[in-house]
Amino acid sequence: MKHKKTERIVDILNTIEDQLKKCHISTPRLDAEVLVGHYVNRDRSALYRNGDYRPTDEELQGLQTGVARRIKGEPIAYITGIKEFFSLEFEVNHHVLIPRPETEILVEEILRLIGNKTLQRGKILEIGTGCGAISIALATELTQFYFFAADISQKALTVAKRNARRNGVAERIFFLCGNLLESLSEQFDIIVSNPPYISDEEFKHISFEIRNHEPRTALIAGPDGTEFHQALIRNGGPHLRKGGWLIMEMGYGQWETIERLLRESQKYDYIRCQYDYAGIERVATARRR
Ligand SMILES: C[S@@+](CC[C@H](N)C(=O)[O-])C[C@H]1O[C@@H](n2cnc3c(N)ncnc32)[C@H](O)[C@@H]1O
Repeated sequence: MKHKKTERIVDILNTIEDQLKKCHISTPRLDAEVLVGHYVNRDRSALYRNGDYRPTDEELQGLQTGVARRIKGEPIAYITGIKEFFSLEFEVNHHVLIPRPETEILVEEILRLIGNKTLQRGKILEIGTGCGAISIALATELTQFYFFAADISQKALTVAKRNARRNGVAERIFFLCGNLLESLSEQFDIIVSNPPYISDEEFKHISFEIRNHEPRTALIAGPDGTEFHQALIRNGGPHLRKGGWLIMEMGYGQWETIERLLRESQKYDYIRCQYDYAGIERVATARRR
């Protein structure tokens, strides 16, 4: 739907909300606010403070393209190119997974472990860094630590490097391109990963938004979705110093397998699971013996 140049921002918001509602977008008002805010370069509250503002032709054109993309099911973060994580801003594009709020639990778990141990400095390895959200969030909090953030996707690493600069932590994060732990010879205090963990079967039923827009290399992980956890448990040990921690995000129903693998390996103790706010098992933590 075209917007007349004379329309005020508050009226445009209502029109877009109606359009998105008709197309079964689950959060039409919020999405309308984010889209309008993005294309007229104002934050959400400013949209209402300046409700009489009339967008320029250029702003309206951008907005129409953005709404059309959203109606086709593209996630809003890819349209705006920005996602907030741990109260920081990250650039995102189709080469990286959009960071999820539940991944903040992983970051909080690490901050808790380090706080408890009063460890002042150290080295943290992240496998599958994507847009860099986990390492960058940690680096802003743990200013004495150095980070090694690896990903198999060079295009994802390009985005992650820009995000590290954007958040002022680029000097303490080394980005590496490689398959899991293959090219690494060092030992770390912590290995953290939010690996791909969607099973082949689950992928067939996952929402259209995810399946058609987010990178498959960031999602799919074999018959039961624990392929990457298995590799990290098996090969992580030699890369962790004694007393170091392996911390991995996981999906619904995966804890039982992951816990068994951690115990069977006999390389770890203090094995435990954190639940997310929906009560789903979300983060596996284990200490290197
Ligand atoms: C679920 S995403 C996590 C991205 C980011 N850490 C986050 O939490 O938002 C998994 C990431 O692992 C990367 N990946 C997939 N296979 C890999 C492999 N064999 N070695 C290293 N990274 C891999 C993907 O490119 C993707 O960026």
